[in-house]
Amino acid sequence: MAPDPISRQTAARSTWDEGCTAWHLLDRTDLGIDHQLLPPGASTRAHAHDRSRQFFYVLRGRATVTLGPQTAHVGAGEGIEVPPRVRHEVRNEDGDELEMLVISTPKVVGKPHARSSLGRTRGGLVVGTYLRPTRSGDLRTVVDIEEALDTRQWIGQGGLDWHRSVLEDPDMEHWVLVDRLDRIVAFGIIAGVSEPGHVELRRMVVAPEGRGQGLGRLLLRKLLEQARARPQVSRVWLDVGEDNTRARSLYRSFGFVEKPAPSWASLLENGLYMEWNATSGES
Ligand SMILES: CC(C)(COP(=O)(O)OP(=O)(O)OC[C@H]1O[C@@H](n2cnc3c(N)ncnc32)[C@H](O)[C@@H]1OP(=O)(O)O)[C@@H](O)C(=O)NCCC(=O)NCCS
Repeated sequence: MAPDPISRQTAARSTWDEGCTAWHLLDRTDLGIDHQLLPPGASTRAHAHDRSRQFFYVLRGRATVTLGPQTAHVGAGEGIEVPPRVRHEVRNEDGDELEMLVISTPKVVGKPHARSSLGRTRGGLVVGTYLRPTRSGDLRTVVDIEEALDTRQWIGQGGLDWHRSVLEDPDMEHWVLVDRLDRIVAFGIIAGVSEPGHVELRRMVVAPEGRGQGLGRLLLRKLLEQARARPQVSRVWLDVGEDNTRARSLYRSFGFVEKPAPSWASLLENGLYMEWNATSGES
């Protein structure tokens, strides 16, 4: 059977800032091809990618691209290469729309170019944010958050299939923290919910652009409420990387204490066992 052609009508679409749109024509881990539209006056935040090499090819309009210390004007039918780790910014300084193809290998995860994808004010994001059960349609975003920089090294197995299996496992609960527009800002998993006694906080991750604004604290409080709602739960335990100082200080501030791991607890390499008393702990 002939493969179906991909078009803006069939591709997944995302938006950022004021009126910028991307159609994800190809969305593979090793290659991303976006068709992007930036209205007059729009610009991306200056940023660099750790691993991705990109090529911006202008179809219509004119892009003003700053690459490190230099600025180039790129017109229709022209393109420019952006190597990994080079700080860059794209602006549409013309009166017309800018339309371009953005090719990235490997694909760029998240929206590092967006000026305000989640908002910046400390505390502002927490208002109106709530926990709801994860649906299978949420998992792609969950995996994108998990694969972002400064995340993967702190957690165990992951990927789409693993998260699907968690959704189907009666012993685990998968939760997302969403804002008022139902955008996922964080997710968490608790395990061991079918047995009385103790529940494991298996995973909690805040989207990188939302960190440091109180979302981790909110997520942890909500997950502990869920854990405590299970019958006869006396303690919640978790496994945290020894050098994950950010997460360790969050857990400690909630009353988790580091203890020698019981024989039944399987920990990550360099993992520390921490426990929270569900009958007296803060939440
Ligand atoms: C750990 C994580 C969930 C914290 O989320 P967050 O939204 O950044 O945290 P908050 O803004 O709610 O901050 C909560 C507390 O974390 C600690 N913390 C946050 N950022 C910190 C940093 N850069 N350095 C040290 N401690 C930090 C502080 O104790 C902070 O409390 P305070 O602001 O009242 O002092 C988040 O950084 C994350 O997703 N990390 C990657 C995945 C991960 O490590 N998960 C845990 C695996 S066990």
